[in-house]
Amino acid sequence: TLWPVIAIDGPSASGKGSVAERVAQAFGFHYLDSGALYRLLAYAAHTRSVAWNDASKLAQIAAVMEIRFENGEAFLDGEHVSAHIRSEQMGKGASEVAVHPEVRTALLQTQRNFRQAPGLVGDGRDIGSVIFPDAALKVFLTAAVETRAQRRYDQLINRGETASYETILQDLKQRDLRDTQRSSAPLVQLPDAMLVDTTKMNITQAVDMIIAAFKKTA
Ligand code: C5P
Repeated sequence: TLWPVIAIDGPSASGKGSVAERVAQAFGFHYLDSGALYRLLAYAAHTRSVAWNDASKLAQIAAVMEIRFENGEAFLDGEHVSAHIRSEQMGKGASEVAVHPEVRTALLQTQRNFRQAPGLVGDGRDIGSVIFPDAALKVFLTAAVETRAQRRYDQLINRGETASYETILQDLKQRDLRDTQRSSAPLVQLPDAMLVDTTKMNITQAVDMIIAAFKKTA
């Protein structure tokens, strides 16, 4: 059986993670945070002193690294690495390793393996375009870049970290460019995707919209 997939794609800091997790909870579905895979690879490369532009070595690491998610926590080769991979540095690293087609191919099956009973919610950049083109529901979740920067800033401050709004805004703009302009699986708004713009909407409203839309597909 091909279990139903809800694909939620969109730019960095659009709230995909929180929205996807809640939608998954609502239906009792599995959750795939595909960005975490690229972050894990960036981190694995970093600890092995492999450069983020060394496509063939990166693909080799992707093929052998052992990843596991448990209650939203990420493990790499048995080590708890959530705090490491959530850093801005690994977000940047993720977007650099993610440009290589060899890397994307190496992580393709890993992502498809998350499709298990009774269904899956996946978030990322190419979930609806490449990983699960047959998804029952495709969502393009976005928000104005200034809104996303403000949310990321608030998040870091709440965590007790220091942050500069201007730096975050510039980083996000760069990340957006890299994700949309790359030749391999760029972030696109698919014609068959539902647009959810959270610039003037809170997470609960976005979650409710997606839940209602998925129910209509059944
Ligand atoms: O979503 P997150 O910010 O964790 O993703 C980190 C980076 O990983 C993104 O900026 C993007 O370049 C890359 N990514 C990707 N394809 C995905 C998910 C993430 O290229 N499906």
